[in-house]
Amino acid sequence: MGNCWLYFGVILLSCQVVRSQRVRVLPEVEAYPNESVDLRCQFANPGSTKLTQVSWIFEATEGQRENIAVFHPVYGESFPTSAFRGRVQFTQPSLEYPSIRINNVKMSDAGRYTCEYATYPSGNEQGTTTLIMLAKPKNSAAAVTVQAGSAKVVVARCEALQGKPAATITWLAGGGGEYNSTSQMESDGTVTVKSEYRMAPASADNGRDISCVITQRTQDRPQTFTMKLAVQYAPTVRIEGYDENWYVGRTDALLTCHTDANPKVLNVTWTTVSGNLPPTVRVDQNRLLVQKVDESVNTTFVCEAKNSLGSGKSQLTASVIAHGKQTQGAVTGGIIGGIIGAVVILCLIGAGVVMYRKRLQSTENGDGPPKHKPPPPVKTGSSTEMLNKPKDQTMTITESQPLSKYDSNYYETTAAEPVTDLDDENPSPANGGAPSAWEGSGHPLGMDETASDALPPYEAANHDIVEANHEPPAASVPRGESFVSAPMLV
Ligand SMILES: *[C@@H]1O[C@H](CO)[C@@H](O)[C@H](O)[C@H]1NC(C)=O
Ligand SMILES: *[C@@H]1O[C@H](CO)[C@@H](O)[C@H](O)[C@H]1NC(C)=O
Ligand SMILES: *[C@@H]1O[C@H](CO)[C@@H](O)[C@H](O)[C@H]1NC(C)=O
Ligand SMILES: *[C@@H]1O[C@H](CO)[C@@H](O)[C@H](O)[C@H]1NC(C)=O
Repeated sequence: MGNCWLYFGVILLSCQVVRSQRVRVLPEVEAYPNESVDLRCQFANPGSTKLTQVSWIFEATEGQRENIAVFHPVYGESFPTSAFRGRVQFTQPSLEYPSIRINNVKMSDAGRYTCEYATYPSGNEQGTTTLIMLAKPKNSAAAVTVQAGSAKVVVARCEALQGKPAATITWLAGGGGEYNSTSQMESDGTVTVKSEYRMAPASADNGRDISCVITQRTQDRPQTFTMKLAVQYAPTVRIEGYDENWYVGRTDALLTCHTDANPKVLNVTWTTVSGNLPPTVRVDQNRLLVQKVDESVNTTFVCEAKNSLGSGKSQLTASVIAHGKQTQGAVTGGIIGGIIGAVVILCLIGAGVVMYRKRLQSTENGDGPPKHKPPPPVKTGSSTEMLNKPKDQTMTITESQPLSKYDSNYYETTAAEPVTDLDDENPSPANGGAPSAWEGSGHPLGMDETASDALPPYEAANHDIVEANHEPPAASVPRGESFVSAPMLV
């Protein structure tokens, strides 16, 4: 209590003395419903002024004065009939400290409380405290399921019920939308704030995040609700799989009908523009398999998908040709080549791992790893440039391409940050992912070079961690080999 009064005194000095008032009160007090609140009052330095009586007057709104407690040194305490009767008391009945306590406060107790002295000879003197009633709002938010369209509709709602003071609602959403809020005063003095977010929902907005943020004085921090937009749309349909090579007699032609819809597509149907499907095709859900290509499939196929909102369709005209294009053999060759390539690469990786282990052993004996990369000329020759990349990059880089950023990273990070370097290069030997890259090349020799070349950086990077500052001459041997052999590619 002593501390409180000390604190109280400091506030009073700073807030009240400047106004040269002798009746000292706190300007503002906050309370939650059902709490007790103390309204303090003191007459400072009465001097020769005679204090005769003190009253507390409540004003819910400006001008509606209601006397709720009176103290007289002779007649004692009095609590006139009011909404406070039974809930209000003097904490320490005296003219010097006529503070009151109000128990079980209600939202409707919010307002101005004036501590008013009757004095002689100067007349009435007073000080006023504002009681601010607080209430934590009940917050909630929900997305509204809508149909895609060009009109703006409410796609999400957010509300803060019965807060005091009123909450503020804002929205975080990527472009195109707008929101409004309404505040409604409740009978208990709290405020309900509701906000709606409106936009013209597109099918692409389905599943997108939208957030509302509720800020209010009683909350430690703003509360954020993140929702997913729920936009429904009729199916969009796309037919894939036609390779323009439906030659008479082909047995494995396949069309696939891809659909995108919310809610999900219920039914996919295949037809032709002329009506029924030819007898040689078989439909399996969204797939249409041509068991044997003949003139009957020289037609336009239609795929139609339906969901609860509607349907979408797409069509594809197949033209049957007499003889197959020559891609068939090449494709098969490519596949076989790819398989062989994969096997060779696996062998090389195995060999590389063995080599790597050996080198590791030798470096443990004091031989340092390669720290530096091949000299600048490597960068300018296109074939050597290829060689110095991890092999899964090799095939995708064409000769006409300028030095890629990958390349410059390679050189920079090796010098500065060995650990990053390791991360960059590790995947190449590890995933051995050559088959796809391989198909494009068809060069057993090129393969050989890239695969064996992939090992040194891997190795070097590992050593860099162990012995970062070593730069022994022996190091560049494996690199030198691939470097020297480079012209063989060209
Ligand atoms: C205050 O108390 C009343 C009855 O005791 C209860 O119904 C009400 O929920 C309480 N209000 C708060 C904000 O705790
Ligand atoms: C937002 O504005 C619309 C029309 O202007 C109105 O119908 C709706 O009630 C408002 N909603 C809110 C939460 O203010
Ligand atoms: C799809 O629709 C067709 C006709 O519209 C109907 O014959 C067929 O039974 C439907 N299939 C399913 C799985 O609903
Ligand atoms: C397929 O139809 C097109 C025109 O619709 C026609 O020009 C072409 O000769 C037809 N092909 C066969 C193999 O019937």
